[in-house]
Amino acid sequence: MKKVVVALIAVVAFAGTAFSADVIEMKKGVKFNHKAHTTAVGDCTKCHAAAAGGKIEGFGKDWAHKNCKGCHTDGKKGPTACKECHK
Ligand code: HEC
Ligand code: HEC
Ligand code: HEC
Repeated sequence: MKKVVVALIAVVAFAGTAFSADVIEMKKGVKFNHKAHTTAVGDCTKCHAAAAGGKIEGFGKDWAHKNCKGCHTDGKKGPTACKECHK
């Protein structure tokens, strides 16, 4: 019984930790390398409302084409053509 309780606490603690897959598979064949972006961009709040990250409210086509493409265009780094993101 004690073991079960410890295991449950571990699961709950983990679920509460900010966590994201290294590569997030998005719609229409977009593979977003979250890990590489975190390194390249550094500041979580460039994309997230808070430094802890998490789900982005209203994430989808409009957000992506404005923010993903926008940063690539402004920084002259990263893809800006449809086929480079949508494989
Ligand atoms: C270049 C943009 C960008 C940067 C920089 C970035 N993220 Fe993210 N992150 C995303 C996107 C896009 C998602 C997927 C959002 C969604 O599906 O709502 C995501 C997802 C996440 C998730 C998973 C949310 C969930 O519940 O599925 C966490 C946690 C997270 N990011 C934390 C961080 C932290 C912490 C940092 C800084 C160290 C960071 N992110 C930097 C864009 C970014
Ligand atoms: C704040 C700036 C910023 C935002 C926002 C951003 N990127 Fe990028 N992205 C970069 C930079 C900088 C690079 C180049 C990294 C390098 O060459 O080391 C890059 C590279 C890429 C690449 C090519 C390399 C790779 O990782 O496969 C893809 C694809 C990409 N970004 C997709 C996305 C998508 C999809 C989003 C939105 C969910 C996004 N990016 C948001 C800055 C950004
Ligand atoms: C910087 C990367 C990037 C570029 C460049 C880009 N897209 Fe996207 N696009 C995305 C992301 C990320 C999404 C949102 C994926 C999601 O909601 O999971 C998206 C969503 C979409 C969707 C909606 C998919 C759906 O089922 O909701 C369409 C259609 C689309 N893009 C077409 C295009 C076309 C056409 C171009 C060129 C004019 C283009 N995209 C350029 C990253 C990009």
